[in-house]
Amino acid sequence: ETLESRSLEAIAKYIKDGRAKRIVVMTGAGISTSAGIPDFRSPDTGLYANLQRLDLPYAEAVFDINYFRKNPLPFYTLAQELYPGSYRPTITHSFITLLYQKGLLLKLFTQNIDCLEREAGVPDDMIIEAHGSFARQCCIDCKASYPDDLMQKAIKEKSVPTCQKTECNGLVKPEIVFFGEQLPNSFFRNRFLPEDADLCIVMGTSLTVQPFASLPQACRDRTPRLLINSEQVGLLGSRADDVLLLEDCDTGVRKLAEACGWLEELESLWAM
Ligand code: OAD
Repeated sequence: ETLESRSLEAIAKYIKDGRAKRIVVMTGAGISTSAGIPDFRSPDTGLYANLQRLDLPYAEAVFDINYFRKNPLPFYTLAQELYPGSYRPTITHSFITLLYQKGLLLKLFTQNIDCLEREAGVPDDMIIEAHGSFARQCCIDCKASYPDDLMQKAIKEKSVPTCQKTECNGLVKPEIVFFGEQLPNSFFRNRFLPEDADLCIVMGTSLTVQPFASLPQACRDRTPRLLINSEQVGLLGSRADDVLLLEDCDTGVRKLAEACGWLEELESLWAM
């Protein structure tokens, strides 16, 4: 066993002793709920529990490529609310930035499309956006790209944009990964990178969507894995050096920062 005990203090000591030099972080919607963005699967507040108005056959259909082909309007009805721009990063996002600034971040794998990691100061090349983002958009048939300004207009008007090539006229969709679509190449190129990590931190995800959900398994057996999440998820807790902090992400990262002696630094980074 690598840790002295399965506790937050042992994780902090492991970091302070300089044994965690390459930390891999894996995140999901739960790190952005305190910014005001709903997650997907929380029973009352999650997006999937609040889609009755869209009259979908099942909640996840709003992000299903085959459903989108038949009926793109529900997605565009939601897109306005999901579109980045009006939210502020949380202290959990700043914690990831702090790891980067200390030279300890190996890579961040995120399922989020809100771009808050980038806004918090994590550089582009440190982030694997496993489920894509709103940064680009293209035709789902001929893959021709579509201009940003027209996309913003469509989202504002809740209208469905179509391909500019008249002979195509396919539907245009932001390059966020829908169910039934491939994840970006950057994910597959890096999916075994967690093998090189000496610490793994998983935060704010239910780990229900594959292949992302398998990422923590790519860490070596002896690599400590810390889960900061309101509930236990995936197979975290099954290994000897797994530590579970089952609470709010912001509270959890503050505790970890405090135990590492970084709390003031973190708070001032977040306040910037
Ligand atoms: P989920 O909504 O499935 O899971 C969020 C997790 O975070 C749950 O375990 C919550 O209990 C927890 N949580 C929420 N708020 C929290 C907080 N403040 N502190 C601590 N924990 C909190 O979201 P994801 O796992 O990100 O994909 O969902 C994965 C994918 O499913 C998404 O990327 C999206 C969705 O369908 C696509 O749209 C392709």
